[in-house]
Amino acid sequence: MQISELPLSGPWGERHLLGLERLTAAQLTTVLDLAEELERATAGGSERLSTLKGLVVANLFFENSTRTRTSFSLAARRLGADTVDFSASSSSLSKGETFIDTALTIEAMGVDLVVCRHKTPGAPHLLSRHLRAGVLNAGDGTHEHPTQGLLDIYTIRRHRGRIAGLTVALVGDIRHSRVARSNIHGLVKLGARVIVCGPSTLVPTEIRQLGVEVAWNLDEILPEVDCVNLLRVQFERQRGAFFPSIAEYAELFGMNAERIRRARKDLLVLAPGPINRGVELTPDVADGPNSVILDQVSNGLLIRMACLSLLARERRAGSGGAA
Ligand code: NCD
Repeated sequence: MQISELPLSGPWGERHLLGLERLTAAQLTTVLDLAEELERATAGGSERLSTLKGLVVANLFFENSTRTRTSFSLAARRLGADTVDFSASSSSLSKGETFIDTALTIEAMGVDLVVCRHKTPGAPHLLSRHLRAGVLNAGDGTHEHPTQGLLDIYTIRRHRGRIAGLTVALVGDIRHSRVARSNIHGLVKLGARVIVCGPSTLVPTEIRQLGVEVAWNLDEILPEVDCVNLLRVQFERQRGAFFPSIAEYAELFGMNAERIRRARKDLLVLAPGPINRGVELTPDVADGPNSVILDQVSNGLLIRMACLSLLARERRAGSGGAA
């Protein structure tokens, strides 16, 4: 099946997916609608399509990943692409080759789309200026993680049927979270009310400029919240101690059975993962009826298929090939 057979409507026109900040609500909706169409057309993603047949997708991961890397690889293969997996630790980077030279070398093997994760904010943007290939940001430091934002939003839309008018709380390490930033840009554009909540040291008040409300007390906001997205404390990105102890963090900001009892009965509990059981949420909440954490993982595959399809179309159009 070709992508043109899917009833794809709505604007796109982007060669790269670097973040949700500069996408319009209409472009975001194009991705979400295409993911939904792919869900219908592929019985949840397990059927193979030929949308990316003849194209090569390279995964360039300079930071660890379980979900994102696996689901980008699987998504590319489900769409009929050849895939190349690059791992920084076993590459010639250790021999002194630069980031750009590494990427140019891989591109020279005929790569059409590059999926890049890097600890430095802006690394995929830099690649997009040096490569002819389309670039997808799979997480750049503390900056953005657009496909995670999209899959979180998609999961909410699948469960609630809409985004506009919902109240979504992003709880945790807002300061260091690229997932928070991509969620904020997407959710605000699509008309949600977004509240960010966490220890004051991890929630910069300037974040209000992005159109969100700031709260320090989870128990105060919880009764108003439709969806809560529990963000991992990004210890690996922190310099210094931002709160006294993990136990205290869990006590004040962790989701547990008691908080679930005081929340809306149909509260959706999301977490991008990896989850730390007993910190951001207790095991009974992670595995309980309000949790949609594994749906997020499944939906990640659909969202990545949708994003790869859209960029493949631009790539083929740009290189004079058939869409
Ligand atoms: C997130 C990431 O890498 O930013 N994980 C993911 O992609 N599912 C969140 C995190 O690591 O906490």
